[in-house]
Amino acid sequence: MGANFITGTGTDIGKTWLACALLRHWRTQGLRPAAFKPVLSGFDPDQPGASDAGALLAALGREVSATALDAIAPWRYAAPLSPDMAAAGEGRSIDFAELVAFTRRSVSADYRQILVEGVGGVMVPLDDSHTVRDWIAASGLPCVLVTGSYLGSLSHALTALEALAKVGAGVTAIAVNETAGSTVGLAATLQSLARHAGGVPLVAIERSSPQAGIARLAGLLC
Ligand SMILES: Nc1ncnc2c1ncn2[C@@H]1O[C@H](COP(=O)(O)OP(=O)(O)OP(=O)(O)O)[C@@H](O)[C@H]1O
Ligand SMILES: [Mg+2]
Repeated sequence: MGANFITGTGTDIGKTWLACALLRHWRTQGLRPAAFKPVLSGFDPDQPGASDAGALLAALGREVSATALDAIAPWRYAAPLSPDMAAAGEGRSIDFAELVAFTRRSVSADYRQILVEGVGGVMVPLDDSHTVRDWIAASGLPCVLVTGSYLGSLSHALTALEALAKVGAGVTAIAVNETAGSTVGLAATLQSLARHAGGVPLVAIERSSPQAGIARLAGLLC
C-alpha cells in the first residue's frame, strides 16, 4: 500500500499544490490514486471548490459534491485558524482518536497511491494535547515533508525533521518546493539541507519546470 501523509514546515508551503500535482501525475499513468484532507479550516460552504478538498477532488477528476467532501474532509471549520482554534470557535473539538481511526480506515481502501494532507505545519495543535505530528505517528503513515527555499527554510525544515523524529514518524522524502522570488537558490538550499537531513531523500520542485521533481517524488512514494 502506498499511502503517505503530506505535511510541511508551515501553512501555504505547497502541500495541496504538490498533492494535486502527484495525483495528476499518477492519473496520467493510468493509476487510480485517492486523497484525503481530513481536517479543513477556513472552509466556505458557498465555495467548496476553492478549498483544499475541492482542489484534491478536481485533481482526482471527481465532482466537488457534499458526499465527496464528507468522504474526504469530514472535519470542516469556517475560521481560517489552527484546527484547535477554529473548532473551539464553533463550540466543537476534534476527537483525536476518531481522527486517527478515520485516517487508518481511509488508507486501508483498495488504492495503491493514497495521499493524506495534514493541516499547516507539523506542530499545529489539533486539540489540547495533540499536534499534527502525533496524528502522523498514530496513523502509522510515512510522510513527505514539504519545505521551501526562502531564507530561513533550512532551519524550519530541520526543526520539523527533529519534531517528526521525536515521535518516530518516518519521512519518505523532503520536497523542497522552490519559493518564488527567493534570494536563496534552490540548488544551494538542497546542498546545505543534504548535509543535515540524515540521509532522507531530497526532491527539488522547480517553479519553472516542476515535472521532473514531481515524477521523482511520485517514484519514491510507490
Ligand atoms: N510549485 C508551485 N508552483 C506554483 N504555485 C505554487 C507552488 N507551490 C505552491 N503554490 C501556490 O502557493 C499557494 C499555497 O500553496 P498550497 O495551498 O498548496 O499550500 P498548503 O501548504 O497546502 O497550505 P495550507 O496550510 O493552507 O493547506 C497556492 O496558491 C498554490 O497554488
Ligand atoms: Mg493545503
